[in-house]
Amino acid sequence: MSGHGDPQPMTSRRAAPLQGVAEIPGDKSISHRSLILGAMAVGETRISGLLEGEDVLRTAAAMRAFGAEVTQTGTGAWSVHGVGVGGFGEPEDVIDCGNAGTGVRLIMGAMATTDITTTFTGDASLRSRPMGRVTDPMALFGARAWGRSGGRLPMTIKGARDPIPVRYVVPMPSAQVKSAVLLAGLNAPGQTVVIETEATRDHTERMLAGFGAKVAVEDTEEGRAITLTGHPELNPQFIEVPRDPSSAAFPVAAALIVEGSDVLVPNIGLNPTRAGLYETLRDMGADLTYENAREEGGEPVADLRARYSPDMKGIEVPPDRAASMIDEYPILSVVASVAEGRTLMRGVKELRVKESDRIDAMAKGLRANGVAVDEGEDWWEVEGIGPLGVPGGATVMARLDHRIAMSFLCLGMAARDPVTVDDAAPIATSFPAFAPLMTGLGAVFTEGAA
Ligand code: S3P
Repeated sequence: MSGHGDPQPMTSRRAAPLQGVAEIPGDKSISHRSLILGAMAVGETRISGLLEGEDVLRTAAAMRAFGAEVTQTGTGAWSVHGVGVGGFGEPEDVIDCGNAGTGVRLIMGAMATTDITTTFTGDASLRSRPMGRVTDPMALFGARAWGRSGGRLPMTIKGARDPIPVRYVVPMPSAQVKSAVLLAGLNAPGQTVVIETEATRDHTERMLAGFGAKVAVEDTEEGRAITLTGHPELNPQFIEVPRDPSSAAFPVAAALIVEGSDVLVPNIGLNPTRAGLYETLRDMGADLTYENAREEGGEPVADLRARYSPDMKGIEVPPDRAASMIDEYPILSVVASVAEGRTLMRGVKELRVKESDRIDAMAKGLRANGVAVDEGEDWWEVEGIGPLGVPGGATVMARLDHRIAMSFLCLGMAARDPVTVDDAAPIATSFPAFAPLMTGLGAVFTEGAA
């Protein structure tokens, strides 16, 4: 698993035109939620298209440890026999969530209102990330937590024996925190209310309603308020996990920056809380079209067609779009470096507490490859060199961060000299088929240094 084996350096070289169809795996956010909600329902939930990346497999193992029966029945096909709301049993061992912030934070929420004690840990990246943002609202329900300094893992949580419902204004734009509070609210009596001042991805609200919970969403003066009625019986579901727009971002971006490319990326969910990158790329002048636009399972879906776009211009990304593209800033900064002029990204301090400090990781890696970057606590700016101008030639640190590794491999496809990432192993957390998929389109990746 990532972070535990030997590093796997990988080098990316300037590619010939990318051509073909990129079949993207299932959405990571929805895959975690499918397993967790399936485990909290009564009866059998069947899932197809589950992302079988390391992060999600950790969540599957965790749900087993809490007492659910979780089995793989085919490729991407899974069955979950749930134990019902409040039915989690105490795990016999530590829950290791690997690299997965979403996994650990959602599972903490799901267990925090049941009278059991659980110890959580993860890899070096996850052990450096703040968990107080989840344990603070869990304390309001009556749960207690003991972790390392700074609210870091390993951490033990004792779930509330007599949970009380909570009204909580989420202090940062975080779908993970919002979701943890909602999942905890399932086993509290009465109504739990979560208010977010900036709308973040809404999969938990949508899926809770799909499982039969009573969920009401309204826009109020304080923000977007979600009211959940506790103690529902969740009904098992058939879930078809849509394809991940955050993973689709890599072949789309690569096609835009590699001369002569034309790539089709079918069936990508364009839920407005997730699709900010694609709007931004179009604002920059990308030749990116939505073909066959339709609705599936109540969500907008389209086939993305991306063609080489030598006329892209740097822009100021609207800060109110940040939550809808928070995971896509690393790959956007790669596109920005081959666009003409500056791209300014503001309102993005959450990037500093992802799998790595993504502003620092991208800024250092881009500079090493000849791109000028300026940065502050919650903003950064990339000076685009224009098509065919990025020098490349450096090795960058992936810092146990899948999206940093994939972004720099995409940069190498358009740079003059090869770009190496010191460790491509973390890519398996979210997109295990990334390298074969990209090389199938025409990318030139080799194991080891240049
Ligand atoms: C996620 C929420 C986001 C995102 C992460 C997935 C989710 O994290 O970065 O990759 O599935 O809820 P934050 O809640 O920290 O913004």
